[in-house]
Amino acid sequence: MKIFNTKAALQQYLLQIRQSGQTIGLVPTMGALHQGHLSLLRQSQQFCDITVCSIFVNPTQFNNPDDLEKYPRPIEQDIQKLEAAGCDVLFNPEVSEMYAGNEQWHIGLGQLEHLLEGEFRPGHYQGVTQVVYKLFDIVKPDVAFFGQKDYQQFLVISKMVQLKQLPVKLQMCPIEREPEGLAMSSRNIHLKPADREHALVLSKALKFVVDNYNGSNLQQVKAQASEMIRNEPGVKLDYFEMADGETLLPATDQTLGIVALTAAEVGTTRLIDNMIIR
Ligand code: PAJ
Repeated sequence: MKIFNTKAALQQYLLQIRQSGQTIGLVPTMGALHQGHLSLLRQSQQFCDITVCSIFVNPTQFNNPDDLEKYPRPIEQDIQKLEAAGCDVLFNPEVSEMYAGNEQWHIGLGQLEHLLEGEFRPGHYQGVTQVVYKLFDIVKPDVAFFGQKDYQQFLVISKMVQLKQLPVKLQMCPIEREPEGLAMSSRNIHLKPADREHALVLSKALKFVVDNYNGSNLQQVKAQASEMIRNEPGVKLDYFEMADGETLLPATDQTLGIVALTAAEVGTTRLIDNMIIR
């Protein structure tokens, strides 16, 4: 695997790739890689000739300085995992390589920016779009791969691609879960054993609505699922919403595409999860 820390060296390398007619897949990550990230990598390897993985803990998307500081950064292990998975290129820049200084960035994301995660993490999606825009500009991928785990993030990035008319195809990949149902996340390592047990309530509540929504009882199942999470010790519910899969506005029984999304603090760790209902 080739490892680049600078934009210039990466771009020079990718130029040859593109000139030889090979397609480029990009898997953007913040590292602390797990099977979820590696499933994105496999998708990219299936669809594209060359796969670039980026590992960059992007400061502009953290609205909580503590969260940024304690974000895990096991770079040596990550490199081993990427080598073992057959990744072609790792881009692992320093903050100064990605940000010149006092840059301004604002993209009109409309309601998407303020709903759900946006409400609890002000500015988060501006930071996400800022760094993903830069990564797209540097790598110029044919296809970029993102997880359904961050459903709202996928919608936000799709909106940016549409607004800026970027020549990249986006692919959403399914959520990888632990055998008991917990969605894999780099933040799971902060969960104490008891927290890990309590965290299962999130996927259980989502599964409950998948299994029990019958097309006419949306408010009921939503209330029951929220109650399940509220009743779990050690868990503080931020939201449980059944939303329109495109706008993320609250769904009704008449909504065509529905996704259930939830976020909660488990111990001191904030977790998100979702399931597509229909
Ligand atoms: P990160 O949280 O590291 O996630 C990188 C990618 O892996 C995202 O597309 C995310 O949705 C996906 N992913 C995470 N957990 C997953 C799981 N359990 N199953 C499947 N895919 C999963 O998301 C980010 O980083 C950042 O916001 C980033 C896009 C890199 C911009 O900084």
